[in-house]
Amino acid sequence: MTSPIDDLYTVRDYLRYISSQFSASSLYFGHGTDNVWDEAVQLVMRSLHLPLENNTLFLNARLTRDERELIISRMHRRIEERVPLAYLLGEAWFMGLPFHVDERVLVPRSPIGELLERGLQPWLGDQSVHRILDLCTGSGCIGIGAATVFEEAEVDLSDISADALEVAASNIELHEVGDRVRTVRSDVFASIEGRYDVILSNPPYVDAEDLAAMPDEYHHEPELGLAAGGDGLEVAHRIIAGAVDHLNPGGLLIVEVGNSWVALEQAYPDLPLTWLEFENGGDGVFLISADDLQQWQERS
Ligand SMILES: C[S@@+](CC[C@H](N)C(=O)[O-])C[C@H]1O[C@@H](n2cnc3c(N)ncnc32)[C@H](O)[C@@H]1O
Repeated sequence: MTSPIDDLYTVRDYLRYISSQFSASSLYFGHGTDNVWDEAVQLVMRSLHLPLENNTLFLNARLTRDERELIISRMHRRIEERVPLAYLLGEAWFMGLPFHVDERVLVPRSPIGELLERGLQPWLGDQSVHRILDLCTGSGCIGIGAATVFEEAEVDLSDISADALEVAASNIELHEVGDRVRTVRSDVFASIEGRYDVILSNPPYVDAEDLAAMPDEYHHEPELGLAAGGDGLEVAHRIIAGAVDHLNPGGLLIVEVGNSWVALEQAYPDLPLTWLEFENGGDGVFLISADDLQQWQERS
């Protein structure tokens, strides 16, 4: 039986062949790219350790046999096992930055990245930021992204999963921010000490019904990173209950709850949440100030 690698030689050949194969399958996109072409470009170029931008220079370059075999085997795993591409490559991009990822952590995709790129404006105003907590950090993408925006801030990356924190630690090393970013193992706030100016969190928030209906790609991600009880709010309830004790006056709490925003609104009809809007897609992210949260708690 002939293998495609006997007929395909150049970068251009592989981009074309993989685009055709991806188009003929029913892949789910949503772990970094949202279309066949971008997924094929990322698979080919990053398997060759070449940049994603300005890559036309190499279109006619011929690949070695090892490179061809690697790309075709990754393509098969993507199509047949539905492994998200980020896990096959061992890397994902968030806020334009590379992060190590594997099946111990979710593939980074939170719209909170867009807020950070805007320096949390206009919400932050002229409030200074000295300490940031990324609660439920996974790969550490949100907290490390925050550290690149708030260059003087100290950032704690916290997760209940020791496995996830190993990945986060490797990303601290990758971004050379170990002098002010550290990992803390904690069940929500249980082992968190002190107060922060900003608490950012993308906790697990998938409800039981959505979890059962998720495309195969999601089943390669750690269930601990997705599932959050019947209403999807198991962790979010605990964040709302505990955040006041860990925020400085004037601080901000920003939490992603995705589709579970409807259940959250029903559970907290009097909580003055601001639901944020995003240019690059995504929803179900709320923001509340420490002061509003405290006043609400005193009223309740
Ligand atoms: C949706 S993932 C988000 C990861 C990362 N923040 C991101 O945006 O890619 C949620 C993370 O919460 C962690 N987690 C689940 N339950 C937790 C708990 N009770 N306390 C702290 N972290 C928890 C999981 O291990 C997982 O890494």
